[in-house]
Amino acid sequence: MDGMRNVMDPNEFLREFRKACATPVTLLRQTAQAMATEMQEGLENPGQRRLKMLPTYLECLPSGNEKGLYYAVDLGGTNFRVLRVQLGGKDGRILKQESEQVPIPHEVMTGTSKALFDFLAETIIHFISKEATLGFECLNLNQQRDIGFTFSFPVNQTKVNQGAIVAWTKGFNITDSVGEDVVEQLQSALAEMGSEHAKVACLVNDTVGTLAQCKYWNQDAMVGVILGTGTNACYVERADAVPCWSPSTKSDMTVINVEWGNFFSKNLPWTFADEGLDKDSLNPGRQEFEKMIGGMYMGEIVRRVLLKMAEETGLFGPEVPEKLTESFSLLTPHMSTMHGDDSPGLQVVGAIIAEAIGVKDTTLATRKVVYEVCDIIAERGARLSAAGIVGILKKINRCGDLMNSCLTGQSNTQAKKTVVAIDGSLYEKYTKFRNYMEDAMKEMLGDDYADNVTTMLSKDGSGVGAALLAAAMSTDQGLGVV
Ligand code: GLC
Repeated sequence: MDGMRNVMDPNEFLREFRKACATPVTLLRQTAQAMATEMQEGLENPGQRRLKMLPTYLECLPSGNEKGLYYAVDLGGTNFRVLRVQLGGKDGRILKQESEQVPIPHEVMTGTSKALFDFLAETIIHFISKEATLGFECLNLNQQRDIGFTFSFPVNQTKVNQGAIVAWTKGFNITDSVGEDVVEQLQSALAEMGSEHAKVACLVNDTVGTLAQCKYWNQDAMVGVILGTGTNACYVERADAVPCWSPSTKSDMTVINVEWGNFFSKNLPWTFADEGLDKDSLNPGRQEFEKMIGGMYMGEIVRRVLLKMAEETGLFGPEVPEKLTESFSLLTPHMSTMHGDDSPGLQVVGAIIAEAIGVKDTTLATRKVVYEVCDIIAERGARLSAAGIVGILKKINRCGDLMNSCLTGQSNTQAKKTVVAIDGSLYEKYTKFRNYMEDAMKEMLGDDYADNVTTMLSKDGSGVGAALLAAAMSTDQGLGVV
């Protein structure tokens, strides 16, 4: 019977699928334009639109002059990180830095609020107790430790150190904490464990930490982007664009957390695999842009495509491999490793297929198909993230003549230098993803990319940046007029 089955040729399937995922520059431009428009609408209608455009209430970013001992705690992915930095001012900069990270148990990620904040508080107290090492200032026990709290989920902030969680993303789901103030919960868990001297000075998103760290070294930094487990961006905005808030002091600028993961437009190349992933996720109908780009999802999209190919083209032989039917059996690190295999025999691709999909012997033709699927998904994600960045640049009028004239028919008179700070494993470690992203930036911006706009790795920014912000707030210079 099998021999008579009318199966599709894998390469024909692939051709069709590549078409369905195509991101020509016209589509990228439309996406950038839609992102810029939705950003404006989100700002004007707080909480009403897909893009939440969350105010951070920040009135300063690091200048490089900060001095003293500061802490950061960083929650947002599979690990919880705690850090301390000793800052020496303009000449000394970061004199010393130490950090520790602990994996967050799965039951804590989807358990109760109390279990989560107790877990965080215990880790923080343990870390602070080991403060007295060489190179760090000796504070006495009762002196206050200022903490920058990086919390990489959508938060409705009401002050720089106050904010309620809007919704969990990226595999976290702690329903009894939605709507609760995250700083207060951490602060009371710390107090219950007897630690009164650890004080959250600011609550920030990881994108904001990324921007802050870059700003500490380079005052042209205007945008912070995360391309990691999830994806998101923030940027420097005029304070008067934020309804219901006027900054207390010197600055007329602030930072907005876009939460672009929740962006969607009907022009996006959304396929059966995205549809299925979204439907089976913890948050269906939300975070679609993130689900096409984030490291938590790309490997799973590849798996879904390969599963369909196994069923419809017999890619792995007459049987569909059992492991391929299990969600998240193929992860983005697998995908990135396969995609990095440039050897003629694609042996590494073969080894990962054996490990993750359980098929020991594959032909070169099959390995090529699997490689191609990785390529299609990475290219699509990377190019869409570039379109998101250009959307932000457009919103702040920093994307140069070519892009502006294409989008609006107007030409841009300013040519201010703009640095886009990026952190996250996709940008840092997935070379082909990063190259695709940068190529798309070039396609959209022409010579402006490199001449006026640059992208830069802001490594570990989500943690260090929060400590720098806590420091900046105690020596507040204001963001100034940008
Ligand atoms: C998710 C979160 C967002 C965070 C991003 C990157 O999109 O909602 O707050 O910045 O992941 O970690």
